[in-house]
Amino acid sequence: MQNKIAIFVIGALFLTFASFGAVLKQSQAQSADKPFGGSDDIAFAKKAWGAMQKARLVGKGSINTHPYEGQAPHGAILQTVDTTVSIDGREARMIVKKNFGPEGISVKDVWRDPDKHLKAVTIMFKREDGYDKDNANWFWAKYLANGDLDKNPKGAMLAGRVAKGADQGCIACHTAAGGEDYLFINDQ
Ligand code: HEC
Repeated sequence: MQNKIAIFVIGALFLTFASFGAVLKQSQAQSADKPFGGSDDIAFAKKAWGAMQKARLVGKGSINTHPYEGQAPHGAILQTVDTTVSIDGREARMIVKKNFGPEGISVKDVWRDPDKHLKAVTIMFKREDGYDKDNANWFWAKYLANGDLDKNPKGAMLAGRVAKGADQGCIACHTAAGGEDYLFINDQ
């Protein structure tokens, strides 16, 4: 009888540990597939910023382009460049949008001194097939003027598939752009 109880207790303990292990594994898997703000996306966003500096799209001495009055939520005055850059040896399309402020500044103010008025830089970069099949494989990121990543109110870094599955954020809003390419620039 005692033997049976002992076996039962050991069995129960084993099951408890096994299920604990399974839960642990599951939560690790979930953090690895986080749609955005995970370590891979943050590392990629850093490389992207480096590639943008090299191409003189951001940073000191970056190329000045025609500023224009933008639509919400991106800021009063915008500059947008549609180009290609190479990241990890793979060249692909990148759209870089600089957001200037505060409210009330003019196109001329921005043209004369873009660095002074820069508030944020948002980008879309075409990733390899399979990165995000549901959303045309775009990588999304939002940087502050100094190149640090911006965060959402919950503290998640805005880099990656932002915010896949949510009803707000880059993907949700850009889904409304014409042509199913998530781009507003080519909509008239
Ligand atoms: C509420 C809607 C909305 C959200 C959220 C949004 N965008 Fe946009 N985005 C726009 C609109 C509208 C434009 C066109 C702006 C213009 O040129 O006046 C735009 C333009 C852009 C462009 C230039 C290419 C294009 O589509 O014209 C990029 C790059 C971009 N957004 C990146 C982002 C990123 C990255 C995020 C998330 C951090 C984001 N956007 C969140 C509405 C949104």
